Amino acid sequence: MNQIRTLFWQDNAVVMIDQKALPLEERTLVCTRYEDVVAAINDLTVRGAPAIGVAAAMGIALGARQIQAANTEAFQRDFMAICDAFARTRPTARNLFWAIERMKRCFEKTLASDTSITPSDINQALVAEAIGICEEDIAVNRKMGANGRSLIKDGDRILTHCNAGALATAGYGTALGVMRAACEEGKKIHVFVDETRPVLQGARLTAWELMKENIPATLITDNMAGFLMQRGKIDLVITGADRIAANGDTANKIGTYALAVLAKENNIPFYIAAPRSTIDLSLKTGDEIPIEERNSEEVVAFQGARSAPFGMPVYNPAFDVTPHRYITAIITEAGIIRSPFEKNLSGLF
Ligand code: MRU
Repeated sequence: MNQIRTLFWQDNAVVMIDQKALPLEERTLVCTRYEDVVAAINDLTVRGAPAIGVAAAMGIALGARQIQAANTEAFQRDFMAICDAFARTRPTARNLFWAIERMKRCFEKTLASDTSITPSDINQALVAEAIGICEEDIAVNRKMGANGRSLIKDGDRILTHCNAGALATAGYGTALGVMRAACEEGKKIHVFVDETRPVLQGARLTAWELMKENIPATLITDNMAGFLMQRGKIDLVITGADRIAANGDTANKIGTYALAVLAKENNIPFYIAAPRSTIDLSLKTGDEIPIEERNSEEVVAFQGARSAPFGMPVYNPAFDVTPHRYITAIITEAGIIRSPFEKNLSGLF
């Protein structure tokens, strides 16, 4: 099950599934320059917090190979500028900054390891680190799946939002990874997929993944979720996360907060599945999480088809924050974390 490799390093290039083209066309984008990877993150060719982190790590490794510096200081300066270019792409996903920090640490450690180190040695170390981050991500997702599947019972009907699947990671997925793991142990589940306006990650990507693997699923529009919950058609909700503050407040795709409130109102457990690289203990609460605002075009048109009057003002926050009181548990690779989140999340590090 699950052969989807969202992105990988091949022949000194970063190869990624072009998620903008899905589900109508399955094609890949080959990035040979770091600027291509920066653009791919910005325009959502690659998206989802862990996948953005892996893409940035590989993009930084690619960028280091482009540097033509006369000395170590110049090399270091150019390397930091490449890292900064990635840091300016999307502000909400913690995994992006986590991956950049790892690449910087790898650079500094390699540089300090030997006085006769060459740019080629550094480049090799950076490529190895980026590939390592990619492989670790899949392993972490499988662990998260193994930990979280106990929360799913045979016959459960599960609601999910956005895409927290293989496509949002290097492979296997976080929230969808937990569902995959439940299927792998023979449980029968049914997934209700929120279409996830404005970019339709649910309708385009989650639906595509679930159909590819024959996991029974039904697509609904975002505004139908409350009705289904009220009618007793949902047993649990599982979503991914882009950043989790020290107290457990969680940023995820816009619309997640509303689902969590609806779940509480209807006595339905609400779970988040996320790796430790999504947790940001430097932020006390979700109020401090930076929320990305995206282009108004995403709201007024879809793939070129206009759906609102020209000149209409638009507000397009890409994420919202679910206060921890609405979260039943956070599924991580290190175990299932419950309240008190502040104490239990800090125990993971
Ligand atoms: O804007 P996107 O598509 O990058 O947003 C993605 C999400 O909100 C996902 O739910 C989140 O990154 C978790 S993915 C494992």
